[in-house]
Amino acid sequence: MSKLHVTTTVNGDELDFVCPPEETLLDALRGRLGLSGSKEGCGTGDCGACTVKMDGRLVCACLVLAPEAQGAEIETIEGMATGESLHPLQSSFIDNAALQCGICTPGILVAAKDLLERNPDPSETEIRYWLAGNLCRCTGYDKIIKAVQFAAAEMRGETA
Ligand code: FES
Ligand code: FES
Repeated sequence: MSKLHVTTTVNGDELDFVCPPEETLLDALRGRLGLSGSKEGCGTGDCGACTVKMDGRLVCACLVLAPEAQGAEIETIEGMATGESLHPLQSSFIDNAALQCGICTPGILVAAKDLLERNPDPSETEIRYWLAGNLCRCTGYDKIIKAVQFAAAEMRGETA
């Protein structure tokens, strides 16, 4: 089967790769572009571990075909830190012990960052609903929610 040449923008960098038409965006990110931060938990759109932002919307990269990334703007977990400086959400997840195995963490961070860009002061309920598509088998969620609340407060300049 013939392969397709895809040109896309990932975390501000224009990149290109060649792939079969049926390849997923998740496989292209991880296998062809070396961006292995996005994880594959299920491969069927159920767990959110592969969450990335594509043209301003959160998507499960395991449900997007890589050729659909042609001309798109994609944000992944690799673009979250600024150089050596972690994003406040990343720091807060460490400070609040909001991860264990870490498989869910990149997708949750990408989704939480999108939430805080839309709503800098979400309620606990709003955070829980926003992250409902991101499953975590380890933490029990409370520490994740607390970490998002802490980061949101810090980003609003309210940290004690
Ligand atoms: Fe994509 Fe689970 S790996 S939703
Ligand atoms: Fe293991 Fe969330 S930390 S799945």
